[in-house]
Amino acid sequence: MPLVTTKEMFKKAYKEGYAIGAFNVNNMEMIQAIVEAANECRSPVILQVSAGARKYANPVYLRHLVAAAAETTDIPIAMHLDHGADFEICKDSIDNGFTSVMIDASSKPWDENIAITRKVVEYAHAHGVVVEAELGKLAGVEDDVKVDAKDALFTSPDEVEEFTAKTGIDSLAIAIGTSHGAYKFKPGQDPKLRLDILAEIEKRIPNFPIVLHGASSVPQDKVAIVNQFGGSMPDAIGIPESELTKAAKMAVCKINIDSDLRVAFTAAIRKHFVENPTHFDPRQYLGDARAMMKEMVKHKIVNVLGSANKI
Ligand code: G3H
Ligand code: 13P
Ligand code: ZN
Repeated sequence: MPLVTTKEMFKKAYKEGYAIGAFNVNNMEMIQAIVEAANECRSPVILQVSAGARKYANPVYLRHLVAAAAETTDIPIAMHLDHGADFEICKDSIDNGFTSVMIDASSKPWDENIAITRKVVEYAHAHGVVVEAELGKLAGVEDDVKVDAKDALFTSPDEVEEFTAKTGIDSLAIAIGTSHGAYKFKPGQDPKLRLDILAEIEKRIPNFPIVLHGASSVPQDKVAIVNQFGGSMPDAIGIPESELTKAAKMAVCKINIDSDLRVAFTAAIRKHFVENPTHFDPRQYLGDARAMMKEMVKHKIVNVLGSANKI
């Protein structure tokens, strides 16, 4: 099936109270893991490409791998640019078949964020592509941008109406307590999302799809495998999955997950080498990594996002 935009996906997700998983991709095995999982769950899915992924894999490879994945299934797949830093990278992605782009000018002053976002929207919409933008600042690492916890800012509901009206965006990423990376909170902390802010935003811009970045939950069972087989990931916890499910039942239509998939991928490889010290064929350990990542994606779709059987 050809790639689609997120328009119809979000409309149905909003109405029926679930969210679509947006999973980051960097190589063939990751794309296969995600698409096979979504296909078996009969769930729409978003494959997203960061600046880091472009640097690592070359965008040409990534877009052909995504096209290959789409050709092998009938589920709706959107190809999304994650954290587009400027107009040029958004334009390049639009010109090369992406169906959705994020312009992330959230660290810029208000007027500048609006101006650059508006420019991307005009170009994207003229080419049938949808646009996500961000208001507020998440703590953690956003691609090459590191935002300290003290500088993180919740999105102000007072700003969302004007921002969406002036920019014409299709979805809005907000900061309500999520953060990027695998080391979000210390064990013993009780991280909660500011669902009150989300509810207020929903009131100000009804029927508008909201996006959550930094939504990994740091799967303790997979971290335990990493550490059992030679790793030493520090003790950390993420956003409780139950909080994400509550948000998905509200206005949140897209939930970004990257770190949890990376941990699953790495756990399988570490385990493989300890259990099979003589192996040297990449298909053996990458096959295990793909399988563990696929299991993680299925878990997210079925138990967290609620998007199974929604195509
Ligand atoms: O939000 C950032 C994503 O997890 C992508 O990270 O720049 O390391 O590819 P990356
Ligand atoms: P995590 O690091 O929590 O997986 O967030 C990923 C993300 O927001 C990608 O844009
Ligand atoms: Zn992000």
